[in-house]
Amino acid sequence: MTAKIFAIAAMVSVGFAASAHATDTDVQGELRASFFTQLAAADGKCFVDRIRDEWEAAGKPKVKGWHEDVSDAEAEAAYQCIKAKAATAFEKSAEEGAASYQSWKRYNTGAYVSGTHGGRFVNNFANETGAAYGRFEEFGSMPVGSILAKDSFGVNKRGEVKLGPLFTMVKKEAGFNEKSRDWQYVLILPNGKTMGATGGENGKKVEFCIACHEAVNELDQMFFLPDEYRVR
Ligand code: HEC
Repeated sequence: MTAKIFAIAAMVSVGFAASAHATDTDVQGELRASFFTQLAAADGKCFVDRIRDEWEAAGKPKVKGWHEDVSDAEAEAAYQCIKAKAATAFEKSAEEGAASYQSWKRYNTGAYVSGTHGGRFVNNFANETGAAYGRFEEFGSMPVGSILAKDSFGVNKRGEVKLGPLFTMVKKEAGFNEKSRDWQYVLILPNGKTMGATGGENGKKVEFCIACHEAVNELDQMFFLPDEYRVR
């Protein structure tokens, strides 16, 4: 079931870099090895040193887009560096959960690529009301007030870690929107502004969230996450 959904998601996504993660098994070990210490630059920028070094060694060519070969350990270290910036950025947003999601339980063991959310690395959080998310496909029901939050970042070809949008799903009262199973889908930009919130500000701009998530109506429109990254 899950495998099928991810196959579909991979097909519809642009630039899904599934292979980028196949190599790492000992994430913790590699993390201990030193990535954490390499990352926090004095100017507040975050880098994956290996990629920056390779780019510099190549004579700093003009490059565009995301680097496609980032290991699990590098991605997780990148997240640990960028997450303070994410907290500061999304604190400015009045959208539900934006200011507090980092204090919630995180349901993935490490940042992973999501082809369906801009080909970036993502994380999954749920508030206490939404704790049933942690039972994954056996969730039972998601009560009103449940909030799911997914932050995101990319690593560009110069090795710099860039903050991406925050994606949230907020369970509203029955009758809010039949099509979305009463979830409100929200996209908050890295500058703290809302790009769109279904049933609210610029709702039309984010209707596409429902169009994809309704593929899993039988799971209350939740896709969950790849097996190998689930917190058990
Ligand atoms: C093309 C399909 C697609 C689109 C469009 C899409 N999503 Fe998702 N979404 C997924 C998939 C697949 C997952 C689970 C795996 C992952 O993280 O990539 C997911 C997971 C999520 C989660 C975590 C909860 C869950 O379902 O497990 C949130 C929150 C979320 N998406 C919000 C959004 C918002 C907000 C938008 C629109 C701005 C959006 N999504 C657009 C496919 C999509």
